[in-house]
Amino acid sequence: MPSGHGFPDETTIGPLGPAPAIAAVQRDASSPAESPLTASSTFPATDGNAYEEQMGRWSRRLAEPFLDFADPGGAGCILDLGCGTGSLAQALAGRSRACRVVGLDASDAYVEHARRRIDDPRVEVRAGDACAIPFPDQSFDGVLSLLMLPFVPRADTAVAEMRRVARPGAIVAAASWDARGGLVAQRIFLDTAAVLDPGGAGLRARNCTRPTTRPGELAAIWRAAGFRDIREAALTIRMEYAGFGDYWGPFVGGQGPAAEYVAALNRTALARLREHVRRAYLDGEPDGPRSYAATAWAVRGIAPGVARGAGSVTRPLERRAPASGASECRSHQPRSGRRSIR
Ligand SMILES: C[S@@+](CC[C@H](N)C(=O)[O-])C[C@H]1O[C@@H](n2cnc3c(N)ncnc32)[C@H](O)[C@@H]1O
Repeated sequence: MPSGHGFPDETTIGPLGPAPAIAAVQRDASSPAESPLTASSTFPATDGNAYEEQMGRWSRRLAEPFLDFADPGGAGCILDLGCGTGSLAQALAGRSRACRVVGLDASDAYVEHARRRIDDPRVEVRAGDACAIPFPDQSFDGVLSLLMLPFVPRADTAVAEMRRVARPGAIVAAASWDARGGLVAQRIFLDTAAVLDPGGAGLRARNCTRPTTRPGELAAIWRAAGFRDIREAALTIRMEYAGFGDYWGPFVGGQGPAAEYVAALNRTALARLREHVRRAYLDGEPDGPRSYAATAWAVRGIAPGVARGAGSVTRPLERRAPASGASECRSHQPRSGRRSIR
């Protein structure tokens, strides 16, 4: 039964428990999607304010060129997968009055932060696992994911889920930082840590080889998933810091793998790392503002099947859409009594 709230129908969604406090909890392969949420994530995510300082301020900036590139259209219901504190969801809603956005993230803390921050009834944010998206097949008119896929141990599983919940003809797009060659601010920290400590070298190695961060990886996954009209791009923003304190703060804020590494150092090792990173930041001038280039790989493709309104058959769909959820996304009626985002 359409409920008219404009979001995919919750009655078809299995019950979700809270996200795990510690990341990297693997879903039991035998457990169905209806089991309590056990999202697999390698991104420590416990504090929305700290995340805003660490990455949210930059993902908000990256969201704009990413949306220009992805071009998901101005209407319908869009999924922001791995929404974090809601940078992309907010940018999407800000671009078009006719679209609704569902944000899904493994972190309860980030979901709560996004709900508090985004004052728009067209945006709903909830906890869920990208590898078992709690919505029916073909629920969304667009499926986007910003900076999440590197932190899902099986990116191909998450992308298969993105395809499953996308309607035929929907834009499905993602972006991941070019961690090895495009993220100057992070390389300063990682290269310094790697010289000082084998643990730092391990952190750098993991960081430079995360799934979807190397050239062509996103497009290869998109091809394997069966999307059509695949396009790739490199998107560059600047990360600007007011001074060393502004740059260093996020590394002691507990969010993400680098901060997790720092939190485990003893006092002496932490002081040594901080001092060497500070020298690298200063790089020939007194403390003050610095601006670093930051490049992300982006990919977009079109979900196969019968394109919206075009009637062009590309290939038969492997899974058929349940009736529930699909048409509701196009009615832009908030459901009364629903927990909306303030
Ligand atoms: C670097 S943050 C990006 C967040 C947001 N998209 C942004 O651009 O600011 C990575 C996010 O992916 C989420 N994440 C990682 N694995 C996930 C999974 N299996 N399901 C849902 N979210 C996941 C984390 O909780 C975190 O919020």
